[in-house]
Amino acid sequence: MAELIDGKKISKDIKDETKEKVAALLEKGIETSLAVILVGNDPASSVYVANKKKACEYTGIRSLSYELPEETTEEELLKLIDELNADKTVNGILVQLPLPKHINEDAVIKRISPDKDVDGFHPESVGRLSIGERGFQSCTPAGVIQLLKRSDVKIEGAECVVVGRSNIVGKPMAMLLIRENGTVTVCHSRTKDLREVTKRADILVVAIGKPEFIDASYVKEGAVVIDVGIHRKGEKKLCGDVDFASVEPVCSKITPVPGGVGPMTIAMLMNNCYEAAVMQNKL
Ligand code: GUN
Repeated sequence: MAELIDGKKISKDIKDETKEKVAALLEKGIETSLAVILVGNDPASSVYVANKKKACEYTGIRSLSYELPEETTEEELLKLIDELNADKTVNGILVQLPLPKHINEDAVIKRISPDKDVDGFHPESVGRLSIGERGFQSCTPAGVIQLLKRSDVKIEGAECVVVGRSNIVGKPMAMLLIRENGTVTVCHSRTKDLREVTKRADILVVAIGKPEFIDASYVKEGAVVIDVGIHRKGEKKLCGDVDFASVEPVCSKITPVPGGVGPMTIAMLMNNCYEAAVMQNKL
């Protein structure tokens, strides 16, 4: 039986730690704040944004909410970002993705000041991460590192295989694992013999966006398996990129879906907001 890596508990621990740090800043007269921008009415995005606001309330972070209509122009959105960049009372800026098709996401991401880029999506944040400088880390992969560390998984020297090469998860995940002294391989849809590579992994991180794709035949006995995927399975059930029932008996530790990686993203976002307030106040 594999040990379950409890993302619900670990994310709560991180939020509790952030709450304490935010309260200590407030005692020094510094309020931590996050501006959240949502354009349009995608139902999934609305749920994510509501959860981010709830986490702000929990941790004592002031949240400013900008809910803009679908017809908002790119120019209007960029103007709002400029205003928030200049506003000293705003520490973090988050634009919920995806944006409506008429708005260029790259232009929007690049407009957010790297000092307030709590999502870690700005090219400067990505560059800092890749050369080991201080900067904001993309929240989901940063959350995966915390799951591993807080479950006593040794990354140093381990064979780490990341399946997926997206800008938001796969690539920053690889960079963070390298920073932790893992030996890292990144696989993707064009990888010749995926099984042969994933079978080498001591730590297997799966972020390919295909429901239950990874079964036991891809996993080495005793590996640690981190499932970043989340999909609807029928009416009520959720599943990940990993076929849990097949893989759980062969691995040593595994994240469930839901309750694994999912809750970590928002916990790390809260911590990034705290870090933004610290950096902006030169503490
Ligand atoms: N949409 C889905 N995940 C995310 C995220 O982590 N940040 C933002 N800004 N949008 C998202």
